[in-house]
Amino acid sequence: MRFAARMDRLTTAASFDMLARGKALEAQGRSIVHLGIGEPDFDTPAFIRRAADAALTAGYTHYGPAAGLPEFRALIAAEWRKRRGLSCDAANVVVTPGAKPILFFSMLATLEPGDEVLIPSPAFPTYASVASFLGARVVPVPLVPSRGFDVDLDALRTRLNGRSRMLVLNSPHNPTGGVIPRATLQALAELARRHDLLVVSDEIYAGMVYDGESPSIATLPGMAERTVVVDGFSKTYAMTGWRLGFGVMPEALARQLAALMNNSNSCTATFVQKAGEAALTGPQDEVARMLEEFRARRALVVAALNAMRGVSCAEPAGTFYAFPRVEGTGLTSAELADRLLEEAGVVTLPGTGFGEEGEGHLRISYANSQANLREGLKRMATHLATVARA
Ligand SMILES: Cc1ncc(COP(=O)(O)O)c(C=O)c1O
Repeated sequence: MRFAARMDRLTTAASFDMLARGKALEAQGRSIVHLGIGEPDFDTPAFIRRAADAALTAGYTHYGPAAGLPEFRALIAAEWRKRRGLSCDAANVVVTPGAKPILFFSMLATLEPGDEVLIPSPAFPTYASVASFLGARVVPVPLVPSRGFDVDLDALRTRLNGRSRMLVLNSPHNPTGGVIPRATLQALAELARRHDLLVVSDEIYAGMVYDGESPSIATLPGMAERTVVVDGFSKTYAMTGWRLGFGVMPEALARQLAALMNNSNSCTATFVQKAGEAALTGPQDEVARMLEEFRARRALVVAALNAMRGVSCAEPAGTFYAFPRVEGTGLTSAELADRLLEEAGVVTLPGTGFGEEGEGHLRISYANSQANLREGLKRMATHLATVARA
């Protein structure tokens, strides 16, 4: 079969590839500890599952409006005004099956071939994959590891030109766990206004911040009209498999995304949206408990990584990822991830799965139980004691 040339420019995430390799080894009877995939190990809180049951019984089994149920869009707008300080109403909100379609559709609706998309890197691989797929040019911007993986503003300035069209931000950040400080966001906003950039701000981990704040760039002056905030329920409410996400964006762009939804998915499952309503209006104590558990795991993971030969790890400010430096092992990140999987039975992700700028690092997801984390980290430490040269 002949495929469109653009299919060669689409990549699939390393996390899913490594998960498949880990599962294949498990099928052969090997014991594997999964520190790869970024998926909360918790079940979706029971009251949210009950709300979906009730919605199915009440007949939420039909098509709904392409942009989402009006009452759900209004609720999200009200909550995000309150929780994140966004200035928005229902007309700015589009509901999609997961957060990824907001990324895909906002690029599809705005990028022309040859447009340049600035992406602080390492980064969630979908950004570069979709931008390249659409014929845009990906321009990586380095992060500064010594400053909590903050964006390198000087490097960004040198990469701006007349073709610069979009800036993609992700804070709290996958894979590093970094959070962009307010002062950097202010400088980024100033650059975005001056160079007329559209900002795609992926804030899906905004509910997972351990220290300080993670403000939205959309709250800064003149930014709501040029920012797409990407958010969703997958991480904060442990709802990855439900496929429920949303974007908050200028109204004209929201209408374009509704047209793309109409032509692709028709709508997001209506009973799932009702469950989302319950998630936002119900008790938030389970979310708070999950966050406290992640905080405890972060301490465990960071301490164990720093005790390993050839490894050092700063404390991530948010998400459930750690991004240790592993250059001291003398191996590339891909070699190390391969060895850890094949020889130690631990799935980790090479930093290069998030762009070349991720070389020298591994991504460790601590969305796994403390018992599994201890076992995985013990296996890593034992293995590294044999290979590390430092
Ligand atoms: C930074 C980032 N954005 C978006 C997503 C996708 O979220 P969803 O599963 O809701 O599509 C992920 C999932 O791993 C992510 O890490």
